[in-house]
Amino acid sequence: MQNSGKKVCFMTGGSGKLGSEIALAVAGQGYSIFFTWQHSEEKAKETLEKIRWVSPESQMVRCDVSSVAEIEEAFATFSTHFDRLDLLITSASNFFRTPLLDVTEPAWDSLVDTNLKGVFFTMQFAARIMTKQPFVSRIITMTDISANLAWRNYAPYTVSKSGIQHLTRIFAKEMAPKILVNSIAPGTISAYSGRDEEPESDLVGKIPLERLGDPMDIVMAIRFLMETEYITGQVINIDGGRLLF
Ligand SMILES: NC(=O)c1ccc[n+]([C@@H]2O[C@H](COP(=O)([O-])OP(=O)(O)OC[C@H]3O[C@@H](n4cnc5c(N)ncnc54)[C@H](OP(=O)(O)O)[C@@H]3O)[C@@H](O)[C@H]2O)c1
Repeated sequence: MQNSGKKVCFMTGGSGKLGSEIALAVAGQGYSIFFTWQHSEEKAKETLEKIRWVSPESQMVRCDVSSVAEIEEAFATFSTHFDRLDLLITSASNFFRTPLLDVTEPAWDSLVDTNLKGVFFTMQFAARIMTKQPFVSRIITMTDISANLAWRNYAPYTVSKSGIQHLTRIFAKEMAPKILVNSIAPGTISAYSGRDEEPESDLVGKIPLERLGDPMDIVMAIRFLMETEYITGQVINIDGGRLLF
């Protein structure tokens, strides 16, 4: 066991563009980090190296979250390193274009198994640990404002993100008062284009706050949910007001 007394965060998708920034920010708040990656080994190593500047005991593990056996294995490895779990962040996510009439079974399974089944079982394994602890812990799911929009060409993705928002409410109710469960739904984050099929200028035109999001906008909300004590079952849309259109 490498940890004594320090808060611990288990996070999926720590090798992601936004995910790596969230992992670093949580480490900066004094947490030990245990994060998963799947294909991006170099990005994962680079992220772990940065995290270890502030949180040297942090760890990472390869895990395909579409496999329940691999999630179980990741939690088994986690338990060899850490003896508590204060925060779960489910950030791992699969995203690719799927025109409605061409969605194949493998494409559906790839998106929904990673984005919905994977999140459910990750939450379940974490909650089994968290409910046994003598303190309140937290789960933050990463969803997307598209959970509320009928986006063209992304049905399995948007359906899975919508499903996670509902899971967030179910876990919040059933796990209260031991676990606070909330979701963050980003709009388009500026550094990471490719999520929208419109030119940036058209997109900005639909955002009342007149700019795309910044990773720091997401990090600030994560920090808020890490501290707040009377909010559960909520989805925070961080989109500059785009859902108002
Ligand atoms: N970035 C945005 O603009 C934006 C907007 C709305 C919502 N979000 C949400 O915010 C979260 C973080 O976004 P991001 O920018 O970090 O996404 P990203 O850059 O696409 O990264 C996706 C992450 O998920 C992991 N992953 C994908 N499939 C996996 C699988 N089957 N098993 C395990 N891990 C898997 C990837 O691992 P490897 O790379 O190692 O394979 C990577 O760490 C996601 O939930 C995303 O849906 C982001």
